[in-house]
Amino acid sequence: MADSRDEPLVLGIETSCDETGVGVVRGTTLLADAVASSVDEHARFGGVVPEVASRAHLEAMVPTIDRALKEAGVSPRDLDGIAVTAGPGLAGALLVGVSAAKAYAYALGKPLYGVNHLASHICVDQLEHGALPEPTMALLVSGGHSSLLLSMDITSDVRPLGATIDDAAGEAFDKIARVLNLGFPGGPVIDRYAREGDPDAIAFPRGLTGPRDPAYDFSFSGLKTAVARWIEAKRAAGEEVPVRDVSASFQEAVVDVLTRKAVRACKDEGVDHLMIGGGVAANSRLRALAQERCEAAGIRLRVPRPKLCTDNGAMVAALGAEMVARNRAASDWDLSADSSLPVTDPHVPGQGHPHGHGHGHHGHDHVHEVSKENLYS
Ligand code: KG4
Ligand code: ZN
Repeated sequence: MADSRDEPLVLGIETSCDETGVGVVRGTTLLADAVASSVDEHARFGGVVPEVASRAHLEAMVPTIDRALKEAGVSPRDLDGIAVTAGPGLAGALLVGVSAAKAYAYALGKPLYGVNHLASHICVDQLEHGALPEPTMALLVSGGHSSLLLSMDITSDVRPLGATIDDAAGEAFDKIARVLNLGFPGGPVIDRYAREGDPDAIAFPRGLTGPRDPAYDFSFSGLKTAVARWIEAKRAAGEEVPVRDVSASFQEAVVDVLTRKAVRACKDEGVDHLMIGGGVAANSRLRALAQERCEAAGIRLRVPRPKLCTDNGAMVAALGAEMVARNRAASDWDLSADSSLPVTDPHVPGQGHPHGHGHGHHGHDHVHEVSKENLYS
């Protein structure tokens, strides 16, 4: 067996939304996962405020990097690369992470890898369940995204099959929680109430599940409106709103559609592994129903532990390590944040590295290589 020290040691930085995440991994082994969240600062607004998030990243960045390195027990000199979320996400928030990653990579003489946030959400499962099978179907559900992706090779070939045409799944949880006055973020609290409610109490609509609808796209805004109207009608009639039943019935409508479409995509594409990531993957009913339906269809389900499902730096480090291991090209020093980086770009390779950045020498001469290639190509 290969000496684990031969596996790439990578630090990853994530700042696409409201979590300042810094992780350290060696190959597919998690060494540190430090997260500073500004979620409490957004709570009174009922959603993430970009300016507030950017400022919080700036304040948390250096301490969180220090904490991750300490937790991992590694010296920054030993790193084989620094990975950072280049997009998609909030532009100002991304910029803080990209700037920090560049500064550290340049100062330490390490290659820089700008990577895709969505591909990172998939790749993180390697830290939990080992190497990702190729292909793997991925259902990514969070406050910012809801997509079905087919990963042929997580470093180079990720194919979008479908996505939400309006709200993200997590956004729907957050909005319904707000209507029910349950606070922000809404997912965890609805999940809790739903456990004591009846999922069949109220028949809420299943978006985009008609025979003519796109097979893999999602829509949650009709559901959101239906639930809000139902609650308003109860209140207008002076009746008490059955929070547990509403939560359970709403949640069931969301997870029924998510799991149905994900399993169908696996069957259609002949893929026998499904991974679920993103903050909504923490939902207990989603996990249970996905397990049930995957078992019935002969599909192996992979869901990372909740802390790895929500935004974190370890997922970025995991994808960075895979980039190094597969000799993918490092990014150029002029790497910029791209708030709408397409999912078909798992990373942002520099122009000057057509043959990739060789892994193997844990030396400190990477920066010279990188800048030389930039200058002379
Ligand atoms: O991945 P994440 O931390 O951040 C992004 O949005 O990228 O996901 C946060 C979302 C929020 O909308 C939150 O309500 C939802 O994930 N969430 C849940 C649960 N835990 C978090 N939704 C449903 N059930 C949960 N248990
Ligand atoms: Zn995310």
